[in-house]
Amino acid sequence: MNLVSVKDYQELSEYACNEIEGVVRANPHSVLGLATGGTPLGTYQEMIKGFAERNVDYRHVTTFNLDEYIGLGREHPQSYYAYMMNNLFNHINVSPDHIHIPIGNGEGLELECHRYERLIEEIGPPDLQILGIGSNGHIGFNEPGTSFQSETHIVELAESTRRANARYFSSLDEVPQYAITMGIKSILKSKRILLLASGSHKANAVKTLLECDPDEGFPASVLKGHGDVTLVVDEGAVGIDNIVNSL
Ligand code: GLP
Repeated sequence: MNLVSVKDYQELSEYACNEIEGVVRANPHSVLGLATGGTPLGTYQEMIKGFAERNVDYRHVTTFNLDEYIGLGREHPQSYYAYMMNNLFNHINVSPDHIHIPIGNGEGLELECHRYERLIEEIGPPDLQILGIGSNGHIGFNEPGTSFQSETHIVELAESTRRANARYFSSLDEVPQYAITMGIKSILKSKRILLLASGSHKANAVKTLLECDPDEGFPASVLKGHGDVTLVVDEGAVGIDNIVNSL
């Protein structure tokens, strides 16, 4: 796992955007794995800027999102579908039929998991996967204890995850209890992975990740076994003394 240390959130966002744009320029038919949450918002803003100012062309790009809440329709403002449309897809020229996000409010959720995993197999895997990290080490919505062999599946959200995401809802009660997420095994199929961590509230998770061996109790630790992962941290997320070139 490589470690890139940047000054602040803006630099982290520019770094991630630059990597994405590099992949898309090298292969206009690239597959991108995208994440939600607060962390990638700056990256998406930079991508929108890049589309407008640097002529980055997403017309032939395919995207796969990691996860979606169960029980929220796509029109719900806190669905990850709405998040992606509002924060990225409505502002670049990605083709609507190239956008893939699990559907969390239909009948047959198990079938949906199966469909999504097969789609990743057929069209994917992502050339580059963007990941954030939960304070308990979750990636996507794979909570501690998730099997490293898991494919796309239904997950019950940890209380800490629901609390962390309650800031987007009017009350904790409104935060869904379940989600569909790409599994750990699905995520590891990506050719390259960028794991982004920004701010002092991520420092403990980053420290644990740096120190621990791969362990299902801390999902992000599985990334240490993947051949091409870059952890991008800003000064808030890792003490300045910990800056090293690689792990
Ligand atoms: C969420 C998402 C993850 C995200 C993580 C961290 O619940 N499902 O994909 O990486 O939690 O979120 P944030 O970036 O807001 O800290």
